[in-house]
Amino acid sequence: MDLLRFITCGSVDDGKSTLIGRLLYDSKLIFDDQLAALEADSKRVGTQGQDIDFALLVDGLAAEREQGITIDVAYRFFASAKRKFIVADTPGHEQYTRNMVTGASSADAAVILVDARKGVLTQTRRHSFLAKLVGVRHYILAVNKMDLVDFDQLAFDGIVADYWEFAAAAGVPQFTAVPLSGLKGENVLARSPAMPWYDGPSLLELLEALPVDAAERAGAGFRMPVQWVNRPSQEFRGFAGLVASGRIRPGDPVRVLPAGTATRVERIVTFDGDLEQAEAGQSITLTLADEVDCSRGSVIAAAEAPPQVADQFEADLVWLAEEPLLPGRGYWLQLASQSVTATVQPPKYEVNVNTQEHLAAKTLGLNGIGVVELATDAPLAFEPYAENRTLGGFILIDKLTNATVAAGMIHFALRRAQNIHWQALEISREAHARQKGQRPCVVWLTGLSGAGKSTIANLVEKKLHALGRHSFLLDGDNVRHGLNRDLGFTDADRIENVRRVGEVARLMADAGLIVITAFISPFRAERELVRRMLPEGEFVEVFIDAPLAEAERRDPKGLYAKARAGGLKNFTGIDSPYEPPEAPDLRVDTTQVSAEEAAERIVALVLGSA
Ligand code: ADX
Repeated sequence: MDLLRFITCGSVDDGKSTLIGRLLYDSKLIFDDQLAALEADSKRVGTQGQDIDFALLVDGLAAEREQGITIDVAYRFFASAKRKFIVADTPGHEQYTRNMVTGASSADAAVILVDARKGVLTQTRRHSFLAKLVGVRHYILAVNKMDLVDFDQLAFDGIVADYWEFAAAAGVPQFTAVPLSGLKGENVLARSPAMPWYDGPSLLELLEALPVDAAERAGAGFRMPVQWVNRPSQEFRGFAGLVASGRIRPGDPVRVLPAGTATRVERIVTFDGDLEQAEAGQSITLTLADEVDCSRGSVIAAAEAPPQVADQFEADLVWLAEEPLLPGRGYWLQLASQSVTATVQPPKYEVNVNTQEHLAAKTLGLNGIGVVELATDAPLAFEPYAENRTLGGFILIDKLTNATVAAGMIHFALRRAQNIHWQALEISREAHARQKGQRPCVVWLTGLSGAGKSTIANLVEKKLHALGRHSFLLDGDNVRHGLNRDLGFTDADRIENVRRVGEVARLMADAGLIVITAFISPFRAERELVRRMLPEGEFVEVFIDAPLAEAERRDPKGLYAKARAGGLKNFTGIDSPYEPPEAPDLRVDTTQVSAEEAAERIVALVLGSA
């Protein structure tokens, strides 16, 4: 028996619990391999169909959903004579976007519930749009509570017409509508005699007839993201993963991406012995004919039609965190088993979920949905989400909190990584450094305004110059008059400020210089970004430390006073955060150490490591 995954969605009082209760209660046949999972479930809600009271079951489901924050998505299992089902039951309140994305991203179908008395509501549209966005392909419009409108055909027809209009505008694929009563069980499992004007199938019959994604995926090109490498002995090296699409046999030619190395499959290994063939949905271990470079994150794919490889994409992005998207910041991006750093551009536009209008936006807030361009620091093997949810869907993770902040669906690559070649420079960075007789580095001074960065940075450069070293000083106030004069002091602007300075510093280090920078650079994430732009050991982070009270007392430019008086917004330390380094290469406390002494220490550190 195959398995159909579907999601139920709709507005709060549309009767979701009752309908799911009806499916579980009446279908009785709960499938075996999920009994363990069900047992846990049944303790809470008593899902053993025949023995418990229907009303009790429904109450249980509803009560559980009320606690929505703790239960993001509840998966319920049942079966008919023809098919097994997993229904993702999602709470409908504020967290709906996150829950919908979680529940719907693996669903074959969506059952959109509408109360016959209320018709199509904002939430109906919102949920349908989200389901479409995460790639649900089959839709059933379930017009519920028909018993409360005397099984009136006109009420049903009106709602279907309304939904049809919305679906056409929102690009929701074809849908089938069914009038039913979850409470009375009309048209749920069996066809109802109460609505002789409707001669279509019951909800369950509709669900039984829908095509299952897994079957279609088996027909596509072979792709398997490598989850881990199995190496129990010298002789055996197996690549384990879940087949995302297609079929594979021993001897088949494959490529290992993103590198694209060609080889052949030797064996398909499982716990129950070798297989002659495997297909989408199976967990297997492959051995390859050659000793190719393949590890966690690699994708093994059909040689003749491998997925694309790229490092810049356009994608739908659903923002799931309270903290808004910070364009330019590096987030972890996970796609299948690949993990890279990604930076996101300001959205091309945000979508109003209720009206599908495109709005101008600089960022995305909680539950915001938009189209963005993003760049990754390493090439990814991918496919458009519309063709392959596994290789087209990704999540973004905040590097500091480890929270999942967004879900994304790739549209297409902006350019292929294969076509990018860094201009092969004939004079290498080593040649530049050799000629100057020094080891280049970037001495990155960070700290509050008034902590002493500029003063110390100047002294450092004078000392280096006197010692015959080739150096250059990049200072916040100066750079902001030229290169970065378009930037202010919002979080996003500071991120961009530091990113640009980082790029310039890197180029200067490539030219063989010792670069000294003096910027507040308040965020750990961007200082980390710059560290990773440079070769190991060439980023020297120096924390110029002074307590806020002391910096404020010095107030060399009178800016703290202005900020306190409300005349200067987003001032670091006042109404904009400063994240001190956790493990700087050097920390100088300028309440204890003179600027002269601080500069000595920095020069010693820099030249000592040279
Ligand atoms: S950063 O945060 O983006 O790294 P940067 O070092 O370039 O800041 O600029 C900081 C300097 O700009 C301060 O020393 C101060 O002279 C000036 N400044 C003007 N407005 C602000 C503000 N709102 N917050 C901090 N510094 C400001």
